[in-house]
Amino acid sequence: MANIQAIGVLTSGGDAPGMNAAVRAVVRAGIYNNLKVYGIQKGYEGLLNGYIEEMTIRSVGDIIQKGGTILQTARSKEFSTPAGVEKAYTMAKVFGLDALVVIGGDGSFRGARELSQVGMNVIGIPGTIDNDIACSEYTIGYDTAMNTVLDAIDKIRDTSYSHERCSVLEVMGRHAGWIAINCGIAGGAEAIILPEKKFDIDKDIILPIIDGRNRGKKHYLVIVAEGVGGAVEIAKYIEEKTQIVTRATILGYIQRGGTPTIKDRVTASQMGALAVKLLVEGKQNRIVAVRNGRVTDLDINEALNMTKTIDEDLVELSKVLAL
Ligand code: F6P
Repeated sequence: MANIQAIGVLTSGGDAPGMNAAVRAVVRAGIYNNLKVYGIQKGYEGLLNGYIEEMTIRSVGDIIQKGGTILQTARSKEFSTPAGVEKAYTMAKVFGLDALVVIGGDGSFRGARELSQVGMNVIGIPGTIDNDIACSEYTIGYDTAMNTVLDAIDKIRDTSYSHERCSVLEVMGRHAGWIAINCGIAGGAEAIILPEKKFDIDKDIILPIIDGRNRGKKHYLVIVAEGVGGAVEIAKYIEEKTQIVTRATILGYIQRGGTPTIKDRVTASQMGALAVKLLVEGKQNRIVAVRNGRVTDLDINEALNMTKTIDEDLVELSKVLAL
């Protein structure tokens, strides 16, 4: 058993609904295991600058249902330099931190690995709406974000049907199409354009719309992933080619906020508790992940060397169901 007495927790990168549930779990499981738990404000930026305060059972009361992150988050330029990493490590030691729990995405994990290389024990918890962490089937915030998108699709569908229009909806996901493919299927899209797949605008968008119209469709939905972009230009092109009035909606940051779903709250709680368990058991430099449907963990270097590809079955299914 490692003699861990004090741990820090921070959220980093883009916020995601459910991050608070993870912070709560780390704090409560930590205190349950007789650890001191310190909250670090504004991610690595806060670590560098010593924005660090001891947390209590009560400091995480009434947050499980809140979107965003009570610890706030940032993307730190200074931390991306070797000097910044050293400074962050020194500050962690000033506060007596034996380990750090980092809740964030791929970039945050790379930062955590840098810290591990100068001697800090780090545990990563995947928190991003994008679901683009290679080692994990699931990331905190993904389910809530998809439900937000689906709610928007259902609303857009109402007005699209009433006016017999086409809608092009751009959804987040950075370089990944996970939100797009799932929401496109759940929302009944005619076409889903993903960064992982080359596309031909005439074959993949115009043709299904015209075919659909000839079969009696009354409205049309095209989902474009952020990693492809260009929703406004795509909408213009559709209107020119089909003469169907077409509107673009870029959903934007609404996808990052809101009350986390039960899936996000429970998964975040399990992940936060496992992060603490690993530290209590003396484990070093691990990433918590969902693998084969279970919350588990793996070595940080192994995790960061993995790649993730889009689910081809979902891509195929989306084409069949768009008929
Ligand atoms: O990673 C989450 C995410 O919302 C991505 O989907 C998006 O590309 C990015 O963050 C936007 O980042 P920022 O908050 O820096 O604009």
